[in-house]
Amino acid sequence: MQQLTGKKIILGVSGSIAAYKAVLLTRLLVQAGAEVQVLLTPAATHFVTPLTFSTLSKRPVFTEVTSDEGWNNHVELGLWADALVVAPATANTLAKLANGICDNIIAAVYLSARCPVFVAPAMDVDMWHHPSTQANVQRLLAYGNHLIPVGEGELASGLHGAGRLAEPEHITTALAAYFDRQSDLKGQKILITAGPTYEAIDPVRFLGNRSSGKMGVALAEAICARGGEVVLVLGPSALRPQMPGLEVVRVESAQEMYTAALAAFPQCHTAILAAAVADYRPATAAAEKIKKKGDTLTLELVKNPDIAAALGQQKQPHQRLVGFALETHEGEAHAREKLRRKHLDFIVLNTLQDSGAGFAVDTNKVTIFGADNKVHYFELKSKQAVAQDIINTTLVSAT
Ligand code: C5P
Repeated sequence: MQQLTGKKIILGVSGSIAAYKAVLLTRLLVQAGAEVQVLLTPAATHFVTPLTFSTLSKRPVFTEVTSDEGWNNHVELGLWADALVVAPATANTLAKLANGICDNIIAAVYLSARCPVFVAPAMDVDMWHHPSTQANVQRLLAYGNHLIPVGEGELASGLHGAGRLAEPEHITTALAAYFDRQSDLKGQKILITAGPTYEAIDPVRFLGNRSSGKMGVALAEAICARGGEVVLVLGPSALRPQMPGLEVVRVESAQEMYTAALAAFPQCHTAILAAAVADYRPATAAAEKIKKKGDTLTLELVKNPDIAAALGQQKQPHQRLVGFALETHEGEAHAREKLRRKHLDFIVLNTLQDSGAGFAVDTNKVTIFGADNKVHYFELKSKQAVAQDIINTTLVSAT
């Protein structure tokens, strides 16, 4: 029997004949120890009744955002859950989730949920293979959702092919495996540097860069969600991450980041250096605001310490170092050269040539080079999904 003890699971059932399998799924989830909140779309109620599900789950079932009994708070539901499972997910429901349409309770909960989302599609073979359904699935994956693949075989229409809802036992196993992975970083302490640095020119001005800190913060949050501990040394970013297992050290300049990172590294198994550190700083920061005088102003800049290279020097055999390279040209050659020179174990390359990758945007496209010469290529994804790829490649498969 799969273990889901104490897990809070929202099961969203949409209007497919496969909805009858969601009845058995509810039973299996409850047997595995989960608390199950069932949501039905109005179309699903034509196939199975709310009474069947409420009896099995021992909880009222919701079919509407608003009903005679009042407003079913979809935001609260979304925050309550450890996972949202949409099974069966019809072509119509996939399209709604992929495009942010929220005209029913499942779609409304989906948009407000912070928990992982699993979709288990079910539909006829031609609907499944239709390019728009496939594009919606790809989009949902790119948003960081999980797909429970369809099965092949006889379909309700009498046709044969792909489109069968995964078996309830398989869905339960997939969820249990997911929650097992959630604690796979337990006992690991990871140092992350993230965000830009500000190098003071005078009390008012600084030299900075366009880094938002989003990639490093996504990594920190994903590691904590998988049971790891993180020391996040964060430059001046608008983000204010907070979660159990996360210690945030706020810094401003490269030198402050250097001091904080070097102090934290000896207690950590791995350092992931996602910060965009200024290579140079003004030789002196003026004590008072510099007055506007001549037509030109020359600033003398001096080199900042390279945090990655310093950690590479100090690295012990049990420690691992992951750097980033943001390149505008000849990305691969530069990335490999930095990997060697800074004694990194991995380097994550993103190029500004890929649209949707790089600073301030919510997506990224990366290639990871290992010191073992292995190369891992990834598609354009949300920074949350990229964070999972980086963790799986550099922290999990490498152990
Ligand atoms: O040399 P470059 O700045 O391109 O190297 C990028 C990698 O080195 C990133 O992982 C970045 O966080 C790190 N780095 C650093 N300290 C610096 C410059 C870069 O840790 N002063």
